[in-house]
Amino acid sequence: MYKIPANTLFMGQKLIYVPECHSTNSLLNDLNDSSALPEGTVLITDRQTAGRGQRGNSWEAAPGQNLTFSILLRPGFLELKDQFKLNMSISLAVVEALRFIGSANVKLKWPNDIFIENKKVGGILIENQVQGPKLACSIAGIGLNINQQSFLTPDATSVYIFTGIESNLNSVFQGLIESLEGEYLDLRGKNSASLKRRYLKCLYKFNDSHQFESEGEKFTGVIHDIDDNGRLCVESDGVNRTFSFKEVRFLNG
Ligand code: BTN
Repeated sequence: MYKIPANTLFMGQKLIYVPECHSTNSLLNDLNDSSALPEGTVLITDRQTAGRGQRGNSWEAAPGQNLTFSILLRPGFLELKDQFKLNMSISLAVVEALRFIGSANVKLKWPNDIFIENKKVGGILIENQVQGPKLACSIAGIGLNINQQSFLTPDATSVYIFTGIESNLNSVFQGLIESLEGEYLDLRGKNSASLKRRYLKCLYKFNDSHQFESEGEKFTGVIHDIDDNGRLCVESDGVNRTFSFKEVRFLNG
């Protein structure tokens, strides 16, 4: 069902399809541990039985209706302190591919959520292995709700719900892999000066007043930047506050 992309140099050129697995991130990691896989290897499945999300959450997706896959990358050109650049690059590739299939108004909710308007349409889970100061290997897992028509949680949505169009999963996958390679090659070629500017342009609630919670404290603030370490910069009551992943939570969406 899923084809090796015709227009990429390495991304998806090794494509592993399994009808079912526990988690594509975990399985790809295990396969790479037992025998090193080439950069750009993609593992895709129709059904995850134990899909993983951020903060130890699970990732649920109706089998055969959505995209759930992971990519193996070897971003040895990036220092650990710059790891958020990989995050931005992958996120922007997802936005580009979703826009291509008609999902206008796609937003990136820091740090790894893909939103359409106020609902979550996808998520990214990047797991890194570090060697000295550099990133040796990253497994980037992407879950995107494409054709699913209903969800148990009111905060989730799909491309179908917004466009009314059923997409061919393989075509969406091909577009995604091409976008991912394009962004990744720009990053690797240090051709990523516009990365943060483009990321901020897509950032959910950027320059907008919103409610947050940090360490039990609720406050209203305005996201005004992402710093070089990928931390969220929020201005609240005239004070600039900076948060790492897990230190802050968006309230009401
Ligand atoms: C999140 O929003 O919490 C991240 C979700 C990431 C889900 C994808 S689905 C493919 C890959 N395999 C996993 O187990 N998780 C990621």
